Amino acid sequence: MTRGLAVAVLAILIALGTTSAQRPDRPPTDATGTKGTVVAVSPPAVDVGVAVLKGGGNAVDAAVAVAFAEAVTYPAAGNIGGGGFMVVHPPKGSPVVFDYREMAPKASHPKMFTKDDTWFMHKAVGVPGTVRGLALAHKKFGSKPWKDLVLPAVELAEKGFVLDDAIARSLNDFVKGKGASKEAVRVFGKDGKPDWKGGDRLVQPDLAVTLRRIADGGPDAFYTGPVADLFVAEMKSGNGLITKDDLAAYEAKERPAIHTTYRGYDVYGAPPVSSGGVTLALMLNMLEPMDLKAKGRWSPQTLHLLIETMRRAYAERARYLGDADFVAVPVAKLTSKDFARELAKTIDPDKATKSEELAKDIPLAKEGDSTTHFGVIDGSGLAVSNTYTLENSYGSGLVVRGAGFLLNNEMADFNWFPGVTDRTGRIGTEPNQIAPGKRMLSSMTPTIVAKDGQVRLVTGSPGGRTIINTALQVVLNVVEFDMPLREAVDAPRLHMQWFPDQVRFEGVAAHAEAVKRLEAMGHKVTSHRQGDAHSIAVDPKTGTFVGAADRRILGKAAGY
Ligand code: DON
Repeated sequence: MTRGLAVAVLAILIALGTTSAQRPDRPPTDATGTKGTVVAVSPPAVDVGVAVLKGGGNAVDAAVAVAFAEAVTYPAAGNIGGGGFMVVHPPKGSPVVFDYREMAPKASHPKMFTKDDTWFMHKAVGVPGTVRGLALAHKKFGSKPWKDLVLPAVELAEKGFVLDDAIARSLNDFVKGKGASKEAVRVFGKDGKPDWKGGDRLVQPDLAVTLRRIADGGPDAFYTGPVADLFVAEMKSGNGLITKDDLAAYEAKERPAIHTTYRGYDVYGAPPVSSGGVTLALMLNMLEPMDLKAKGRWSPQTLHLLIETMRRAYAERARYLGDADFVAVPVAKLTSKDFARELAKTIDPDKATKSEELAKDIPLAKEGDSTTHFGVIDGSGLAVSNTYTLENSYGSGLVVRGAGFLLNNEMADFNWFPGVTDRTGRIGTEPNQIAPGKRMLSSMTPTIVAKDGQVRLVTGSPGGRTIINTALQVVLNVVEFDMPLREAVDAPRLHMQWFPDQVRFEGVAAHAEAVKRLEAMGHKVTSHRQGDAHSIAVDPKTGTFVGAADRRILGKAAGY
């Protein structure tokens, strides 16, 4: 596209007020299908997922295959050395969540980090959950042999895959950045250098061997077998805390999904230790009686109510949320309509509340930038919403020597400094302090919306604490504002997380008048880019699936 044309398209899209205004030059990557649809950040992984569906696999089979494939083709966040949450909506029966969040090793303790520690250290690594989590989901719902779902990833690692410009750039940035270990530079550099170009092929022989071991030996190959030995050797080389016992003790858990309703829709999300499902439910319950549609999607009033709802919900998140296997999290209260409605009553319709006025009981004294979300649905109506991460982009930057995979730095998601909650957004409250075997609080919000038992929307996002607000706005755009999926995904998003006391908005230019009004109400508004939300919607009339990859990043939707 010429520059002139791009500017013209941008102007039209801004005038329509419906785009993120991030990459309007990118064509929408939508797909429709009736038998199956997959949407994810990595095109080769989407192809793997579609091939599994076409070969007779179901949505969970495809999701397992996509997750392993992305561990090869999207190393910034796709992983076997990290963790995440998978929400599964079966055609009949209750949705469930596979919690494969990392766990703190046995030798960890609340004050193990000092202010001089960095995220690139062996002790920032949590015990990974991905391989056990995928195996648990497969055991419950899978229909194809496990091996068949891991082998496509083996092939991508062994034979390599062609880098697009974005992945090439991302690898180069990683390799020349300060976070990449020597081994990571060897594995992810082009002959050890940040010289990748779009069209080059990345081959990962060590990772291929690891994945083949997992294909042949199942999850035990990772947690107790030969991969575990390499893992522990890596830990020992850098004073890491994870032992063979920690790996052997890792448990993925199947849990009931968090559930709320919004105007007759059922909304399902991930339970604690994710804060995503609970905080999303709280916000939806606060907003439900407000009739935002009548106020207009981009009116200052609607934006103000969204911001004030977010501010309050995130304060509750900081106060209460942590690993419910360790601390009492009042889930029933936080997801109840009554609690939400009482909290919403504290909103002044004309004025921003100061974040400091909320949660005065919390004594006052950052998150990484890569996670990835994908969705799958099959012809039976089985749907998967999966978000997983290494925490930072490329996690700790550490690659297990000889095993070819990156390690997370998820310990950074615990409250590093007990008691230190500050105006910059650092949280030090008790529920999320480190303890051996505990899972660290997450914002990952894989979400499924259904009506009368039929899936209507599958969504989720990366972006640290912004994730929950991204999911909220995609859900509202579809169910409250009746936007078609493409418009719902493209629409500018805003973010407020209690502290820092500021609003970040993708629509500052497109909605300048509304922003002026918000500022007059006392909001501090800045511009930013929020995370991508690859999503699937189902047309209730025809049953057709619509997949929309988010243009904020590269991605692909494919259906048939
Ligand atoms: O679990 C969490 O909430 C974070 N580890 C997610 C980090 C993240 O999304 C960074 N991404 N863009």
